[in-house]
Amino acid sequence: MLTIALSKGRILDQTLPLLEEAGISIPQTELKSRKLILDTNFDDIQVIILRASDVPVFVQHGAADFGIAGKDVLIEHGADGVFELLDLGISKCRMMVASEKDKDLNKSSLKVATKYVRSAKEYFYSQGKQVEVIKLYGAMELAPIVGLSDCIVDLVDTGNTLKANNLVPLDLIYEVSSRLIVNSAAFNTKHSEINGWIQKIKESL
Ligand code: ATP
Ligand code: PRP
Repeated sequence: MLTIALSKGRILDQTLPLLEEAGISIPQTELKSRKLILDTNFDDIQVIILRASDVPVFVQHGAADFGIAGKDVLIEHGADGVFELLDLGISKCRMMVASEKDKDLNKSSLKVATKYVRSAKEYFYSQGKQVEVIKLYGAMELAPIVGLSDCIVDLVDTGNTLKANNLVPLDLIYEVSSRLIVNSAAFNTKHSEINGWIQKIKESL
């Protein structure tokens, strides 16, 4: 049995056509059900649909053989025990620092609100800046407006969310796209099976 871990939400919408093109399809009845393990058109392939940040955890521990997750999620997780094999080029966006226009960020200690604690710490430490990171789980854009933080580290795509909240992008931390990751042990034990599917997915890009 091969188990594939997919991120729910926006990545899923772009992942399903990719898998379909590669030959793996999940019936609508499965997708619409409340089941957590979904059948596919192959008896020996099942799919689990998880919160984006849980995908590398399931793959790392071998509960899924391979999975699809954003580069942001992989950087935050640390990606221990997983091989990143393919850049799928989907769900592209940028990890950025943003703040209110004309905000002075040259203070000795900055408050940074973010869901992406590791990315934020590594970025500011690399700049030699002292930061207090305030962990949030969403609506980061609110933090500078209500005085919770001096700036945010968040994903930016169109820039509409920043604009709508009178924030400006300041610095690019890294580019994000979704990646195919594989459990390192499964990549050895089920090599030909996994590699076969990776090649098909590659061709369908
Ligand atoms: P959760 O609900 O578990 O906190 P989430 O809200 O981060 O997850 P999504 O918004 O669906 O979940 O984002 C999942 C992934 O999609 C992110 O990890 C990132 O790789 C990508 N992503 C997030 N925001 C955007 C965006 N605005 N444009 C393109 N890709 C994005
Ligand atoms: C993401 C991100 C930004 C927004 C950026 O949020 O956290 O808020 O998208 O996209 P834009 O530049 O195109 O406006 P999402 O919609 O995933 O909501 P979330 O806050 O629940 O993560």
